[in-house]
Amino acid sequence: MRQDEEKVDLVFYVNGKKIVEKNVNPEWTLLMYLRNKLSLCGTKLGCGEGGCGACTVMISKYDRNALKVKHYPVNACLAPVCSMHGLAVTTVEGIGSTITKLHPVQERIAKAHGSQCGFCTPGIVMSMYTLIRNHERPMMEDMNVAFQGNLCRCTGYRPIIEGYKTFTEDWEQVHVSNGINGKISGVDKQNGCAMGDKCCKMLNDTNGVESDKMFESSKFIPYDRSQEPIFPPELKLSDAYDTQSLVFRGDNVSWFRPTTLEKLLLLVEKYPGAKIIVGNTEVGVEVKFKGQLYATFIQPTLVKELTQIDVGRETIRIGAAVTLDEIESTFKDIIKTRPEWETRICKTVVEKLHWFAGKQIRSVGSLGGNIMTGSPISDLNPIWMAIGARLHLNSVMGPRIVKMDENFYTGYRTTIVNSNEILEAIEIPYTSKNQFVYAHKQSRRREDDIAIVNGAINVLFSEEADYKVEDINVAFGGMAPITKLTKSTKQLIGQKWDETMLEKAYQLLLNDLPLSENAPGGMVSYRLSLAMSFFFRTYLNISKQLTIVHSNALNQATGEAVYTDDMPIYNNELQMAMIYSKVSHAKIISIDVSTALMSPNVVDIILAKDIPANRNAAGWLEDEEYIRRDLITSQYQVLGAILATDQQSAQRAARLVKVIYEELTPIVTIDQAIEAKSFSFKAKIHYGNAASKMAECNHVISGEARTGYQEHFYMEPHAFLVVPTQGQELNIYCTSQDHNGVSLGVSKLLGIDQNKIAIKVKQVGGAFGGKETPPRKFAGYVALAAMKTRRPVRLVMDRDEDMCVTGGRHPFLFKYKVGFNNDGRIHAIVVELYSNAGYSGDKSYKAMLHALSHINNSIYIQNLSGFSYVCKTNLPTNTSYRGFGNPQSIFAAECMLRDVAEFLKKDYVDIARINMFNEGDLTIYNQPIVNCNIRRCFEEVLIHSDFHQRKLSIEKFNQENRWKKRGIDVMTCTYGIGYGFDFIQQAGALILIYKDGSVLLTHGGVEMGQGLNTKMVQIVSRELGIPVEKIHTSEVATDKVPNSSPSTASMTSDLNGMAVKNACDIINNRLVPVKTKNPNGTWEEWIFTAYNQRISLSATGFYREPPVNWNWDTNTGDKLYNYFSFGACVSEVEIDCLTGDHQVLRTDIVMDVGNSLNPAIDVGQIEGGFVQGYGMYVMEEMIVSPNGTFMSKGPGAYKIPGFGDIPIEFNVALLKNSSNPKAVYSSKAIGEPPLILASSVFFAIREAIKAARKENDVVEDFRLHAPATAERIRMACQDHITKKVKVNKSTWKVEHL
Ligand SMILES: Cc1cc2nc3c(=O)[nH]c(=O)nc-3n(C[C@H](O)[C@H](O)[C@H](O)COP(=O)(O)OP(=O)(O)OC[C@H]3O[C@@H](n4cnc5c(N)ncnc54)[C@H](O)[C@@H]3O)c2cc1C
Ligand code: FES
Ligand code: FES
Repeated sequence: MRQDEEKVDLVFYVNGKKIVEKNVNPEWTLLMYLRNKLSLCGTKLGCGEGGCGACTVMISKYDRNALKVKHYPVNACLAPVCSMHGLAVTTVEGIGSTITKLHPVQERIAKAHGSQCGFCTPGIVMSMYTLIRNHERPMMEDMNVAFQGNLCRCTGYRPIIEGYKTFTEDWEQVHVSNGINGKISGVDKQNGCAMGDKCCKMLNDTNGVESDKMFESSKFIPYDRSQEPIFPPELKLSDAYDTQSLVFRGDNVSWFRPTTLEKLLLLVEKYPGAKIIVGNTEVGVEVKFKGQLYATFIQPTLVKELTQIDVGRETIRIGAAVTLDEIESTFKDIIKTRPEWETRICKTVVEKLHWFAGKQIRSVGSLGGNIMTGSPISDLNPIWMAIGARLHLNSVMGPRIVKMDENFYTGYRTTIVNSNEILEAIEIPYTSKNQFVYAHKQSRRREDDIAIVNGAINVLFSEEADYKVEDINVAFGGMAPITKLTKSTKQLIGQKWDETMLEKAYQLLLNDLPLSENAPGGMVSYRLSLAMSFFFRTYLNISKQLTIVHSNALNQATGEAVYTDDMPIYNNELQMAMIYSKVSHAKIISIDVSTALMSPNVVDIILAKDIPANRNAAGWLEDEEYIRRDLITSQYQVLGAILATDQQSAQRAARLVKVIYEELTPIVTIDQAIEAKSFSFKAKIHYGNAASKMAECNHVISGEARTGYQEHFYMEPHAFLVVPTQGQELNIYCTSQDHNGVSLGVSKLLGIDQNKIAIKVKQVGGAFGGKETPPRKFAGYVALAAMKTRRPVRLVMDRDEDMCVTGGRHPFLFKYKVGFNNDGRIHAIVVELYSNAGYSGDKSYKAMLHALSHINNSIYIQNLSGFSYVCKTNLPTNTSYRGFGNPQSIFAAECMLRDVAEFLKKDYVDIARINMFNEGDLTIYNQPIVNCNIRRCFEEVLIHSDFHQRKLSIEKFNQENRWKKRGIDVMTCTYGIGYGFDFIQQAGALILIYKDGSVLLTHGGVEMGQGLNTKMVQIVSRELGIPVEKIHTSEVATDKVPNSSPSTASMTSDLNGMAVKNACDIINNRLVPVKTKNPNGTWEEWIFTAYNQRISLSATGFYREPPVNWNWDTNTGDKLYNYFSFGACVSEVEIDCLTGDHQVLRTDIVMDVGNSLNPAIDVGQIEGGFVQGYGMYVMEEMIVSPNGTFMSKGPGAYKIPGFGDIPIEFNVALLKNSSNPKAVYSSKAIGEPPLILASSVFFAIREAIKAARKENDVVEDFRLHAPATAERIRMACQDHITKKVKVNKSTWKVEHL
């Protein structure tokens, strides 16, 4: 064995402890090592592809040049464990704990209510921790950058920012330097601002619930840097680990870390097909999600030629392994020290890097990795191509230099670089005085998102005074399988930089970028428009610059909680991987599992034969099959499951199962289902006589509204662990919001009584309805396997699997006719509602009934006919989702109101007012609206938001700005709270009081981030008159409280709260004699006495809602819902007409939560719900191919709102003096209604688009469907560019589901 092939131990530090790993598996990521080897489960697995930040840890390294320790955040899910050699890793466990001492970063996020389900929290904590380890007093801007790579689905981000801004210099300046010393709670707040009471901070307080009131920053533990753990001295004193040549060998993969260029080239020569990896941010995703296997990895990070940046006189040479962060900081230095005109490329690159991934990726991702991956949407490649960067290649045969031009990329992700060659460095020039370089990027989400289209334009002008184009290079990403350098734009050479040149440029671009109708990526018209818009923007920028240059020339002639998968691994545990169908509609001809069964570490397989035919019915309505036998009706239906000793082996084997299908035509969209009359459920509602009233109206208009599919994207994917104990007994731990449903499902499947199956849920990392029905089925597979093998079995879904299997929010289509009079009063509505249910019934019919009952939102209407159809398609089955059909139908109602306003050319506010419910009005299901606060919410939000004045300012803004437009809109939400069905409206609770007076509370609701446990503990505290510290909740479990209802429909606090109260009442009654005898006793004394007197200290509580006896068929009965929740919202946006980008400038909400049980939790729910709704109406788009394949399978492609998307100003006010006699302590359910208020952003965008169209003299009506993605916004802002693009319907993706 050669010296450089000697095997060494992997050595690194984790939380200050030295780890020496003698048999490292090079296939393992750092995350696998932390969780499985070190049992450090604080670092979470949210996606496995670098897109969510739940796995963020801090890496520290001693920089021997700068003589200081550098810290950077890393996604542990992508970082190979081998790359940790000689480094120090800090995880969330390493910075503090509730048992020892909390770190201020942990304390502040918790106290500021920045953690709901908590699954994202460790990752966010570590991003913030890394930031403050590098900067004692970061600026707000640094914080925004630090969080670019972290997602949260619950909080809406604002409380996190509020808690953490107390670490920033900006906050310090306002609060400390003005003598307030951080004390800003309510009354004694004076900020020293020259605006006095009119300071925006003070105004926020009076307007709503200002964040600072939600916590007292003066009680935070002060941050003391000197208390931080020290960097391991061994790593500082000796460079031994930094300079060591490494070889790690595993069963399938070998890992090398050479120390010199020569050794690197020899390894590349010796191991053809070896992968050079630096950040592993591309390769890690290929291995995990594309099933790629590479036998050899080479880490070049010790080779100086690849790791240095040389700033020369003529050019800058950047080593291929230099990280993107290093480039950014070096370029920033160059910009500071060299003349402006020389550094235009550096400036463009720095600007682009801000929008390139998140901080975790930029800290480790390399320039070489980006270039060599050859992604057609790489953000930097268009720049390198436009400027003609020189690439230094090297191999044992010697070096060569190639220009990065149209010949470099030979096809999709292939280059001219030979297999034995490496990319050593890239060399870029400085710009000359007459040279301008601009780059643009448009993506679905502004931050941490890959581009739809990006481009760079490099123009050199002649020195003569008329500024003719002397040379021009234009490169685009996202317009072809490779980064494309447009050839014919060279024809612009010699032209003056004017409108004639611009017109010619458009034509040349259209010729050069011929996207076919079925081009992968779809959005053909949009992408062509973007390419032209980028050119246009460059034209405007350069024109402005030329004017400046010109005038200068004249003048001078010169970004702890335990979840299911955190449960310790059992010795004999098996891991499960499902075998799924890969086609949407087909007959199964054969299934061959022979190769899979021979795969290493496979122990067993579950197939259809393992389930008796009479127990194979699955799903909420039992209209599904556990294991498909003959017919496939959707992709991702289960054909079986593999059991292996580890997850990777199970997943690998599952991919080896060969299935032969006979394909049938699938139904994918609502339109296709309507045509095929494929409906699984129909319902109608008739109230008054819509048809005859319509005939009497002054006007009748018809319209259409559509809403899209929304993925739940809870941060914790589905996970199940089933442990067989004795005989038929099973303990099941799972991520379910309907644990009783799981118990029922498993009992039926296995034929075991429910009393032997204990389902336990400690907490769930977000659910939003998505964990109601699927766990029933998936817990079944795992339980079946556990019973078959008599071993514990675990199934943890990968993010892409979770997204494709478990369904989401139903897309809807509404077709309506509205009859109204000249005054705007609506008298009749006829509406058809269609939803895309997927292949089975699930909860689709219930969602449809909710949608139907909310179709008029806050409109008081006396004549309405609604016809609803649940469409059966060949898509994964859709299911419950926060709001349950109401976010869709209330959106349609708001569309109707706006259509009326626009038809009559009246203000929407007036139309809304004239049609709004008043106290006692009847709904379309004959239920009187009592305690009707909708008008109060509406009028208050108009005042708080200064709506009318701002509308005027916006008009002025729009007149003054050609390519940016603003819009403002207001909307209401009237939401019926309740399931609408009797049997489900019940709850139980169990209170156990121990001799020491401590209380253990168990109730039937699942804590998933909605603050349920806190509210329930508050109720016990209030009822028993004891401090909250005496009360503990541990888990929900079917062996403690039976027959619980699902934790859904915003009803969990209402139902369980009353059951908890009932249990407290029982205990209080029993304690009466004891208390009467000793009125001045303490709680502990009373309990002790009660025990001695043999009084029972445990009680079960129970509650049932009064009956809802409404009959859908006859539209008669007392009531459908328990009570109503009201809210109103104003949002203002600014759109970029050229790209379709937008920013929410301000949102004001007034919400009626009754007499809030916990205002901080309620405000958190409002903000979190709003941001999720914002995703639904504006941003989140599931791309589905015509054959029914889900293409957006992870955070990389499916964009949920990030930190940078929340409204710049967000004011939430709780309606004062509201109470609700129908719920515990007069509170109101809050989980769902605020989500709907986010459609105000959609309508504000629509207003902005209207302004753009008006300016472009586009008079035709337009339909904007939700979500209002960048693509839809851009294409609706019709202008001279969009008119040039004529493309037929895309055959790549379906337009509407
Ligand atoms: C969540 C996420 C977000 C992202 N966002 C963006 C984005 O906004 N814009 C964008 O452009 N990209 C983005 N990327 C892609 C990726 O981060 C970049 O391409 C990154 O620069 C790759 O560098 P790396 O060191 O991690 O590559 P690695 O994964 O280590 O390697 C990538 C490829 O390059 C080859 N390679 C690396 N170095 C050399 C060399 N010296 N010679 C020959 N071959 C070499 C490897 O063999 C491999 O095939 C994102 C990725 C993720 C996971
Ligand atoms: S789990 Fe690593 S980024 Fe999502
Ligand atoms: S608290 Fe952030 S995802 Fe739940």
